[in-house]
Amino acid sequence: MDGIQAGKKAAAVEAVNNHISDNQVIGIGSGTTVVSAVERIAQRVKDENLKLVCIPTSFQAKQLIVDNNLVLGTLEQYPQLDVAIDGADEVDKNLVCIKGGGGCLTQEKIVANCAKTLIIIADSRKNVEMLGTNWKQGIPLEVVDIAYRPVQLQVTQLLGGSAELRMGKSKMGPCVTDNGNFIIDWVFDKNGNWHEINTKLKMIPGVVETGLFVNMAKKAYFGQPDGSVLAREAKQ
Ligand code: A5P
Repeated sequence: MDGIQAGKKAAAVEAVNNHISDNQVIGIGSGTTVVSAVERIAQRVKDENLKLVCIPTSFQAKQLIVDNNLVLGTLEQYPQLDVAIDGADEVDKNLVCIKGGGGCLTQEKIVANCAKTLIIIADSRKNVEMLGTNWKQGIPLEVVDIAYRPVQLQVTQLLGGSAELRMGKSKMGPCVTDNGNFIIDWVFDKNGNWHEINTKLKMIPGVVETGLFVNMAKKAYFGQPDGSVLAREAKQ
Protein backbone atom coordinates (compact mmCIF):
# COMPACT_ATOMS: atom_id res chain seq x y z
CA MET A 1 0.00 0.00 0.00
CA ASP A 2 1.44 3.41 -0.90
CA GLY A 3 1.54 6.38 1.48
CA ILE A 4 -1.56 8.07 0.02
CA GLN A 5 -3.63 4.91 0.26
CA ALA A 6 -2.35 4.29 3.80
CA GLY A 7 -3.41 7.83 4.74
CA LYS A 8 -6.90 7.41 3.25
CA LYS A 9 -7.40 4.14 5.10
CA ALA A 10 -6.11 5.49 8.42
CA ALA A 11 -8.42 8.53 8.25
CA ALA A 12 -11.41 6.36 7.34
CA VAL A 13 -10.85 3.85 10.14
CA GLU A 14 -10.35 6.58 12.75
CA ALA A 15 -13.53 8.40 11.69
CA VAL A 16 -15.63 5.24 11.71
CA ASN A 17 -14.25 4.19 15.10
CA ASN A 18 -14.98 7.61 16.62
CA HIS A 19 -18.32 8.53 15.08
CA ILE A 20 -20.29 5.37 14.34
CA SER A 21 -22.36 3.71 17.05
CA ASP A 22 -25.38 1.42 17.31
CA ASN A 23 -28.79 2.40 15.86
CA GLN A 24 -27.52 5.21 13.65
CA VAL A 25 -28.60 6.37 10.23
CA ILE A 26 -25.40 7.15 8.31
CA GLY A 27 -24.73 9.04 5.09
CA ILE A 28 -22.20 7.28 2.91
CA GLY A 29 -20.12 9.62 0.76
CA SER A 30 -18.52 8.96 -2.61
CA GLY A 31 -14.97 8.59 -3.86
CA THR A 32 -11.98 6.40 -3.16
CA THR A 33 -11.47 7.24 0.55
CA VAL A 34 -15.03 6.29 1.44
CA VAL A 35 -14.36 2.74 0.26
CA SER A 36 -12.17 2.17 3.35
CA ALA A 37 -14.83 3.72 5.59
CA VAL A 38 -17.53 1.37 4.30
CA GLU A 39 -15.23 -1.62 4.73
CA ARG A 40 -14.57 -0.58 8.35
CA ILE A 41 -18.31 -0.04 8.96
CA ALA A 42 -19.03 -3.52 7.59
CA GLN A 43 -16.36 -5.01 9.85
CA ARG A 44 -17.84 -3.28 12.91
CA VAL A 45 -21.37 -4.37 11.99
CA LYS A 46 -20.10 -7.96 11.86
CA ASP A 47 -18.00 -7.80 15.02
CA GLU A 48 -20.36 -5.72 17.18
CA ASN A 49 -23.73 -6.56 15.63
CA LEU A 50 -24.46 -2.85 15.09
CA LYS A 51 -27.87 -1.89 13.69
CA LEU A 52 -27.18 0.75 11.06
CA VAL A 53 -28.97 2.15 8.04
CA CYS A 54 -26.82 3.62 5.26
CA ILE A 55 -27.98 6.39 2.92
CA PRO A 56 -25.94 6.67 -0.32
CA THR A 57 -24.73 9.87 -1.99
CA SER A 58 -24.25 8.35 -5.45
CA PHE A 59 -24.64 5.23 -7.53
CA GLN A 60 -21.11 4.28 -6.42
CA ALA A 61 -22.04 4.64 -2.73
CA LYS A 62 -25.18 2.54 -3.26
CA GLN A 63 -23.09 -0.23 -4.79
CA LEU A 64 -20.60 -0.04 -1.90
CA ILE A 65 -23.41 -0.38 0.65
CA VAL A 66 -24.95 -3.33 -1.17
CA ASP A 67 -21.62 -5.06 -1.87
CA ASN A 68 -20.70 -4.84 1.83
CA ASN A 69 -24.08 -6.28 2.91
CA LEU A 70 -25.06 -3.13 4.78
CA VAL A 71 -28.68 -1.96 5.13
CA LEU A 72 -29.57 0.48 2.35
CA GLY A 73 -32.00 3.31 3.11
CA THR A 74 -33.34 6.38 1.31
CA LEU A 75 -33.94 9.99 2.33
CA GLU A 76 -37.65 9.34 1.90
CA GLN A 77 -37.46 6.81 4.73
CA TYR A 78 -34.81 8.65 6.76
CA PRO A 79 -34.77 12.41 6.11
CA GLN A 80 -32.73 12.96 9.27
CA LEU A 81 -29.32 11.33 9.62
CA ASP A 82 -27.05 11.02 12.62
CA VAL A 83 -23.81 11.39 10.73
CA ALA A 84 -22.44 11.52 7.19
CA ILE A 85 -18.90 10.41 6.34
CA ASP A 86 -17.45 11.69 3.08
CA GLY A 87 -14.20 12.48 1.30
CA ALA A 88 -13.07 15.84 -0.07
CA ASP A 89 -10.82 17.17 -2.80
CA GLU A 90 -9.42 19.89 -0.56
CA VAL A 91 -10.18 21.31 2.90
CA ASP A 92 -9.10 24.79 4.01
CA LYS A 93 -8.25 26.16 7.46
CA ASN A 94 -11.96 26.81 8.20
CA LEU A 95 -13.02 23.33 7.00
CA VAL A 96 -14.48 24.79 3.81
CA CYS A 97 -14.30 21.90 1.35
CA ILE A 98 -14.12 21.46 -2.39
CA LYS A 99 -16.04 18.34 -3.34
CA GLY A 100 -17.26 16.80 -6.57
CA GLY A 101 -13.98 15.70 -8.12
CA GLY A 102 -15.81 12.44 -8.75
CA GLY A 103 -18.93 14.25 -9.96
CA CYS A 104 -21.21 13.39 -7.01
CA LEU A 105 -21.50 16.78 -5.29
CA THR A 106 -25.27 17.34 -5.41
CA GLN A 107 -26.37 14.16 -3.66
CA GLU A 108 -23.41 14.51 -1.29
CA LYS A 109 -24.54 17.99 -0.26
CA ILE A 110 -28.18 16.94 0.15
CA VAL A 111 -27.21 14.03 2.39
CA ALA A 112 -24.66 16.07 4.37
CA ASN A 113 -27.28 18.75 4.95
CA CYS A 114 -29.64 16.14 6.43
CA ALA A 115 -26.98 14.89 8.85
CA LYS A 116 -26.39 16.23 12.35
CA THR A 117 -22.66 15.84 11.77
CA LEU A 118 -20.58 15.79 8.59
CA ILE A 119 -17.20 14.10 9.02
CA ILE A 120 -14.58 14.46 6.28
CA ILE A 121 -11.93 11.83 5.65
CA ALA A 122 -8.96 12.48 3.40
CA ASP A 123 -5.26 11.92 2.89
CA SER A 124 -2.78 14.57 3.99
CA ARG A 125 -2.55 16.26 0.55
CA LYS A 126 -6.08 17.60 1.04
CA ASN A 127 -5.27 19.48 4.24
CA VAL A 128 -4.46 23.06 3.19
CA GLU A 129 -4.53 26.60 4.48
CA MET A 130 -6.22 27.99 1.34
CA LEU A 131 -8.29 26.29 -1.34
CA GLY A 132 -6.51 25.72 -4.64
CA THR A 133 -3.14 24.96 -3.02
CA ASN A 134 -2.86 21.39 -4.26
CA TRP A 135 -6.22 20.90 -5.99
CA LYS A 136 -5.93 22.68 -9.34
CA GLN A 137 -9.10 21.38 -10.99
CA GLY A 138 -11.29 24.09 -9.51
CA ILE A 139 -14.75 23.98 -7.98
CA PRO A 140 -17.22 21.64 -9.68
CA LEU A 141 -20.64 23.05 -10.53
CA GLU A 142 -23.44 20.70 -11.49
CA VAL A 143 -25.48 22.39 -14.22
CA VAL A 144 -28.58 21.63 -16.27
CA ASP A 145 -27.34 20.61 -19.73
CA ILE A 146 -28.95 23.39 -21.80
CA ALA A 147 -27.46 26.03 -19.47
CA TYR A 148 -23.83 24.98 -19.61
CA ARG A 149 -22.66 27.71 -21.98
CA PRO A 150 -24.49 30.62 -20.28
CA VAL A 151 -23.27 29.38 -16.91
CA GLN A 152 -19.67 29.23 -18.15
CA LEU A 153 -19.93 32.82 -19.38
CA GLN A 154 -21.72 34.18 -16.33
CA VAL A 155 -19.43 32.52 -13.79
CA THR A 156 -16.31 33.95 -15.41
CA GLN A 157 -17.87 37.40 -15.94
CA LEU A 158 -19.00 37.50 -12.32
CA LEU A 159 -16.06 35.89 -10.56
CA GLY A 160 -13.17 35.62 -13.04
CA GLY A 161 -11.11 32.48 -13.56
CA SER A 162 -12.01 29.90 -16.18
CA ALA A 163 -14.88 27.44 -16.48
CA GLU A 164 -14.44 24.19 -18.37
CA LEU A 165 -17.13 21.69 -19.30
CA ARG A 166 -15.98 18.36 -17.82
CA MET A 167 -15.63 15.74 -20.53
CA GLY A 168 -16.30 12.03 -20.14
CA LYS A 169 -13.56 9.45 -19.90
CA SER A 170 -14.06 6.43 -22.19
CA LYS A 171 -17.16 8.27 -23.43
CA MET A 172 -17.47 10.89 -26.14
CA GLY A 173 -18.95 14.20 -25.05
CA PRO A 174 -19.51 15.61 -21.57
CA CYS A 175 -19.47 13.80 -18.25
CA VAL A 176 -23.08 13.17 -17.15
CA THR A 177 -23.82 13.06 -13.42
CA ASP A 178 -26.00 10.56 -11.54
CA ASN A 179 -28.74 13.19 -11.86
CA GLY A 180 -28.40 13.53 -15.66
CA ASN A 181 -26.67 16.92 -15.54
CA PHE A 182 -23.31 18.29 -16.74
CA ILE A 183 -20.36 19.48 -14.65
CA ILE A 184 -18.47 22.72 -15.10
CA ASP A 185 -15.14 22.99 -13.29
CA TRP A 186 -14.64 26.60 -12.27
CA VAL A 187 -10.93 27.31 -11.76
CA PHE A 188 -10.86 30.42 -9.54
CA ASP A 189 -7.90 32.77 -9.57
CA LYS A 190 -8.13 33.91 -5.96
CA ASN A 191 -9.62 32.88 -2.63
CA GLY A 192 -12.38 35.04 -1.20
CA ASN A 193 -15.40 34.88 1.09
CA TRP A 194 -16.51 31.37 0.15
CA HIS A 195 -19.97 31.78 1.67
CA GLU A 196 -20.64 34.81 -0.56
CA ILE A 197 -19.06 33.17 -3.59
CA ASN A 198 -21.14 30.04 -3.08
CA THR A 199 -24.32 32.13 -2.88
CA LYS A 200 -23.40 33.99 -6.10
CA LEU A 201 -22.74 30.72 -7.91
CA LYS A 202 -25.99 29.17 -6.74
CA MET A 203 -28.00 32.20 -7.88
CA ILE A 204 -27.01 31.65 -11.53
CA PRO A 205 -29.98 29.98 -13.24
CA GLY A 206 -28.98 26.52 -14.43
CA VAL A 207 -26.60 25.85 -11.53
CA VAL A 208 -28.05 22.89 -9.65
CA GLU A 209 -25.39 22.74 -6.92
CA THR A 210 -21.82 23.70 -6.21
CA GLY A 211 -18.95 21.63 -4.87
CA LEU A 212 -18.23 24.28 -2.23
CA PHE A 213 -19.18 22.99 1.21
CA VAL A 214 -19.16 26.00 3.53
CA ASN A 215 -19.94 25.66 7.27
CA MET A 216 -20.94 22.04 6.79
CA ALA A 217 -18.07 19.84 8.00
CA LYS A 218 -17.76 19.48 11.77
CA LYS A 219 -14.51 17.56 11.79
CA ALA A 220 -11.92 16.41 9.27
CA TYR A 221 -9.49 13.50 9.60
CA PHE A 222 -6.34 13.62 7.50
CA GLY A 223 -4.39 10.38 7.23
CA GLN A 224 -0.62 10.69 6.93
CA PRO A 225 1.57 8.34 4.87
CA ASP A 226 2.89 6.72 8.09
CA GLY A 227 -0.67 5.76 9.08
CA SER A 228 -1.05 8.43 11.77
CA VAL A 229 -4.08 10.73 11.63
CA LEU A 230 -4.40 14.46 12.15
CA ALA A 231 -7.86 15.74 13.10
CA ARG A 232 -9.22 19.28 12.83
CA GLU A 233 -12.55 20.54 14.15
CA ALA A 234 -14.68 23.39 12.91
CA LYS A 235 -14.54 26.50 15.07
CA GLN A 236 -17.83 27.05 16.90
C1 A5P B 1 -17.03 12.81 -5.19
O1 A5P B 1 -17.62 13.53 -6.21
C2 A5P B 1 -16.22 13.72 -4.35
O2 A5P B 1 -16.89 14.74 -3.71
C3 A5P B 1 -15.34 12.97 -3.39
O3 A5P B 1 -15.81 12.96 -2.09
C4 A5P B 1 -14.03 13.67 -3.44
O4 A5P B 1 -13.70 13.83 -4.81
C5 A5P B 1 -12.94 12.90 -2.73
O5 A5P B 1 -12.66 11.74 -3.42
P1 A5P B 1 -11.46 10.81 -3.04
O6 A5P B 1 -11.79 10.19 -1.71
O7 A5P B 1 -11.43 9.80 -4.13
O8 A5P B 1 -10.23 11.66 -2.98
